[in-house]
Amino acid sequence: MASYDVIVIGSGPGGYVAAIRCAQLGLKTACVEGRDTLGGTCLNIGCIPSKALLHASHQLHEAEHNFAKMGLKGKSPSVDWKQMLAYKDEVIGQNTKGIEFLFKKNKIDWLKDWGSIPEAGKVTVGDETHEAKNIIIASGSEPAPVPGADVTIDEEVVVTSEGALSLGKVPKKMIVIGAGVIGLEMGSVYARLGAEVQVIEFLDHITPGMDAEVQKQFRKLLEKQGLKFTLNAAVQKVEATKSKAKVTYLNRKDDSEATAEAEVVLCATGRRPYTDGLGLGDLGIETTKGGQIKVDAKWQTSVKGIYAIGDAIEGPMLAHKAEDEGMATAEVIAGKHGHVNYGVIPSVIYTHPEVAAVGLTEQQLKDEGRAYKVGKFSFMGNGRAKAVFAGDGFVKLIADKETDRVLGCHIIGPSAGDLIHEICVAMEFGASAEDVALTCHAHPTFSEAVREAALACGDGAIHM
Ligand code: NAI
Repeated sequence: MASYDVIVIGSGPGGYVAAIRCAQLGLKTACVEGRDTLGGTCLNIGCIPSKALLHASHQLHEAEHNFAKMGLKGKSPSVDWKQMLAYKDEVIGQNTKGIEFLFKKNKIDWLKDWGSIPEAGKVTVGDETHEAKNIIIASGSEPAPVPGADVTIDEEVVVTSEGALSLGKVPKKMIVIGAGVIGLEMGSVYARLGAEVQVIEFLDHITPGMDAEVQKQFRKLLEKQGLKFTLNAAVQKVEATKSKAKVTYLNRKDDSEATAEAEVVLCATGRRPYTDGLGLGDLGIETTKGGQIKVDAKWQTSVKGIYAIGDAIEGPMLAHKAEDEGMATAEVIAGKHGHVNYGVIPSVIYTHPEVAAVGLTEQQLKDEGRAYKVGKFSFMGNGRAKAVFAGDGFVKLIADKETDRVLGCHIIGPSAGDLIHEICVAMEFGASAEDVALTCHAHPTFSEAVREAALACGDGAIHM
């Protein structure tokens, strides 16, 4: 039995970042992880491996569609699926080993097994129980079942995001249930690798919560890439054999029933907190109806000395939100002033083009009855974007009508996931659209489109 200042349960982006910050702040720290490798869902079966497959499949798309235009002739590459998965696994390995290195460097003990909390101040890992002045629960999330539908996941024919990252082969046809982030990222991977992809979505639009203009343009561009959308359709059941599955859904407009078949069905209808086996009930830790652990403004649960962060609590299920909470909680435990600005958390969809957003949407501002102005700039007017076949998309900047303060930004276009951070910083500093517009931006860069959108909030964009 060992005694620690902090034991973190879970080594995903929330947990490992919390552990590193605790150690940096001089706290004796351990992190419990039952998987064979550190990094949680994000590094092992989520963000990182999906980015490897998105990158590889995008390269194929470029070879098939744009190489000849640039004078690069010859047969386009074919897919060696085994090698693509090996590349993805290598990327995972590099990243998970990187966390192991950081743990050693910061003298964090990795307690290898699944953890539970028998009582406040104690964490049991395997056969051993350790003492911990503070405990941070960072146990993450798991795929939620398809709501209202009869579906059995086998991770081969009927898969979640996990199975979708390691399919036996590229299917001829894939059905994706849910036009959210996971469905569209993985759907576009398989569409680019040659699969016919049908996305079945409950709502009449894709990516709920996003800017409406972005949603429309995004759908058009994905359709151009071959994805087919069946909207307004509620999936009822999925029946699978060893080699294919039949999806039955209800057309919500006229209540008619329809079916579709595919070799693989990806269920991507959201995630739910994963807190199994922690012993929350016996400890009296309060949770919401959705299973999220309730925390106060400093991430402390209803039990003193036990904190919770990331997907296990309320808020967007995003790795970077968990990381911020991890750092802030470590600071709180160390007696500092940990803080997370929930109004400035970017979200990104890593398709091609990328989609990124931060702050408020027009719809939210309308609902709040606030006066705002919009500056919009198309990547068609951006020289760099045109040079690399990335003119599809736009930057939309929203500012307060009276004060010109930046309230939100919505981007669909090249490197949107990187461009958005200029606006995150601007929002953190309470900048006006004019502040962004008056900042010199290097030419030729995609970032100029962000500046042009800011200019469009004032006297007008130059290149439109
Ligand atoms: P999501 O919540 O983004 O989308 C789920 C979609 O499924 C919604 O559009 C919903 O209307 C639809 N749906 C629900 N029930 C349905 C039914 N019976 N029939 C048809 N459609 C139905 O969930 P997703 O994509 O599974 O992602 C889960 C979480 O993981 C999200 O919180 C997301 O933010 C996070 N994530 C983030 C990534 C990123 O930041 N790039 C990447 C992957 C996941």
